[in-house]
Amino acid sequence: MTEPAAHRPRSLSGIQATSDSLHLGNYIGALQQFVEQQDTHDAFFFIANQHAITVDQDPAELRARTLRTAAQFIGAGLDPARSTIFVQSHIPAHNQLGWVLECTTGLGEAQRMTQFKDKSAKNEHVSLGLLTYPALMAADILLYQTDVVPVGEDQRQHLELTRNLAERFNHRYGKAFTVPEPQILKATAKIYDLQDPTAKMSKSAKTPAGRIDILDEPKALAKKIKSAVTDAGTEIAFDREAKPGVSNLLTIYSSLSGRPVEEIVAEFEGRMYGHLKVALAELAVEALTPLRERTLELLDDPAELERVLHRGADAAEAVAGTTIADVYDKVGFLRR
Ligand code: TRP
Repeated sequence: MTEPAAHRPRSLSGIQATSDSLHLGNYIGALQQFVEQQDTHDAFFFIANQHAITVDQDPAELRARTLRTAAQFIGAGLDPARSTIFVQSHIPAHNQLGWVLECTTGLGEAQRMTQFKDKSAKNEHVSLGLLTYPALMAADILLYQTDVVPVGEDQRQHLELTRNLAERFNHRYGKAFTVPEPQILKATAKIYDLQDPTAKMSKSAKTPAGRIDILDEPKALAKKIKSAVTDAGTEIAFDREAKPGVSNLLTIYSSLSGRPVEEIVAEFEGRMYGHLKVALAELAVEALTPLRERTLELLDDPAELERVLHRGADAAEAVAGTTIADVYDKVGFLRR
């Protein structure tokens, strides 16, 4: 018999609603792991639509992308019956705690975040929200008494700040928060652009041909893989330095098949890059097609999807409500 979810460590993570389709790096790096955690953790997953407005955005697009991201979560195997799946803005306590944590964070501390530095250098208008982003992220996490946070390497510093804020608050006002552990997802950093295998696969890829979107049509998907940049030489071997293109294909192959890289290298010994690409294209189509179809089906019935998110919000709110009431008391806010 499996343990009841309530006795397991709580895991929580969020993905921003900033694209029409998650890419393969998100899927292999994050979603696949989230899906596995449903068996071992009390899992909370949410769509960070509030973080999505820290930079320029389009309202109709944001609304559509929020639903599309939710559909992809479920299409990829997150099960609303076993996990709490919700939309950040549905739970006002994120903002309520966000403010308290903004007042717990030093200005210099926020300005030192590398993501803030990168994004503020790239964007013409820098909003205050871009600076306070990590305090909201800390609120996302601390509201739920989270034990572990599976995130990509790029979020490590935000997790460190979250832990500091939790400890600082607990120390100053009495224990209100579990101090969460980051669980840095190994694979996120390891999926590279198909056209430029020295750059991470990302939604801001130079050319869409470099990025596999999990909602790509099978034909387009196969084509992208078959046109992936490979390296000089002919031997299929894993060598990130000398053969970044082939190594990336091997990593993707390994992640999608669940087989170790060495086994795949052995299987392709003496064969050419083209063989690997054809086999990988087939494997990727096979792995992603069911996910794509389930996602499109869910998107065909947005009312049902909205009901699922409503139930998720009810469950999330019950937990968040307890934390924020305690925090409000501790900081000295008069009860209504
Ligand atoms: N900042 C995260 C990202 O861009 C998304 C996010 C927001 C998040 N709140 C979170 C991730 C809380 C984990 C936990 O990837």
